[in-house]
Amino acid sequence: MTKPIDLAALPHDFAWGTATSAYQIEGAVAEDGRSPSIWDTFSHTPGKIDNDDHGDTACDHYHRWREDIALMKELGTNAYRFSAAWPRVVPGGDGPADDRGLDFYDRLVDGLLEAGIAPSLTVYHWDLPQVLQDRGGWPERDTAHHLAAYAGALAERLGDRVTQWATLNEPLCSAWIGHLEGRMAPGLTDLPTAVRASYHLLLGHGLAAQAIRAAAPGAQVGIVNNLSTVAPASDRPEDVAAARRMDGHTNRWWLDPVHGRGFPEDMVELYGVDLPVRDGDLETIGGPLDWLGLNYYFPAVVADDPAGPAPYARQVRRLGVPRTGMDWEIEAEGIETLLMRLTEEYGARRLYVTENGSAYPDVVGADGTVDDPERRDYLLGHLAACASAARRGAPLKGYYAWSLLDNFEWAYGYDKRFGLVHVDYKTQARTVKGSGRGYAEVIREHRTASESAHHAA
Ligand code: IFM
Repeated sequence: MTKPIDLAALPHDFAWGTATSAYQIEGAVAEDGRSPSIWDTFSHTPGKIDNDDHGDTACDHYHRWREDIALMKELGTNAYRFSAAWPRVVPGGDGPADDRGLDFYDRLVDGLLEAGIAPSLTVYHWDLPQVLQDRGGWPERDTAHHLAAYAGALAERLGDRVTQWATLNEPLCSAWIGHLEGRMAPGLTDLPTAVRASYHLLLGHGLAAQAIRAAAPGAQVGIVNNLSTVAPASDRPEDVAAARRMDGHTNRWWLDPVHGRGFPEDMVELYGVDLPVRDGDLETIGGPLDWLGLNYYFPAVVADDPAGPAPYARQVRRLGVPRTGMDWEIEAEGIETLLMRLTEEYGARRLYVTENGSAYPDVVGADGTVDDPERRDYLLGHLAACASAARRGAPLKGYYAWSLLDNFEWAYGYDKRFGLVHVDYKTQARTVKGSGRGYAEVIREHRTASESAHHAA
């Protein structure tokens, strides 16, 4: 039994959305001037991705975007979070934008608005142009400036219609998983390189925010972080200290600087790497934020791990805790805890859950439907926790389910299905899953209740 959702706690104009990212759904990797990104390179490197999958075709959204907007309408959503592909918009990495790339997002945005769906555009969701990687990538300062120029080009073209902008999606993954753990592009495993990448990603965020505001004065600019609740595996002082370090690595490193608090001292000391700070950088990184995006999937319970990589804390596998098909623990209360933390500790004034979802090995049944009760429960349970945070005062303005479609799940390829809509990759047929219908029902209920409250007032 999932907890009921306190829909009355959510604002009447709540953004009910779904989310995707460019490389995971678009395909068409060599069309209309798009150049390769680090993910094209990584996914075509044997052994990096399960089944040697890659994003060459993905969900073919580049050609099927109209059908995908129709699906969003069918779900009753009023918001859609997507990312632009940097190598499609600026194939050279820096330098001129390609109109063909911009035209694609232009058409998509117009299509969304015609359908009554508000676009929420993420500038960077991990697909760095390979040409920039060849020049050093995120560990190099220039990359931050190139991101800003690319963001400015997007805002100049789309800023008259797109209000909500995110600079970065989950810089933690780009920096730590891509440059320290090596499980994501560009696949490096070096702490000083990873720390420098993290710094330039955040500098890029600050510079991109300025560029977007300069090109589109009405833009609402935010950043999207994947955060976790972190608890020690025991009350041993070593585990308690490990939890503090993991919190620094996962949460505070990404939140403190963008709130003008600088980089957490304990973590700077722990990494032991000089940050390449120049005059004015910390102010740029800590510039104004109109909103904050939370991506939440699972909690972290950690133990001391002195022999492991930074932050010398390892995730512990708890027995008897339910898990998704990613083997991630399910703990819906975590999303409430994090929303309250962002409200109380960081003073957030506008919050969005920009991603939340679960993977399961769905199949299309003999009757052509896809029944996914576990995903439905996950979704409803997390929505209930979000509404509970809103009731307690979190300024929550929207929720974007990850994901609209099954898609390319990075190093896991296509086997991990997160969609509210099933995709048959052979035929590209889309089928709304039971969880998608459940989401539509919640949205309808909230709309009906808001309308009757409005009439009664
Ligand atoms: O698929 C990813 C997405 O690209 C970023 N956030 C987490 C999702 C699920 O792993």
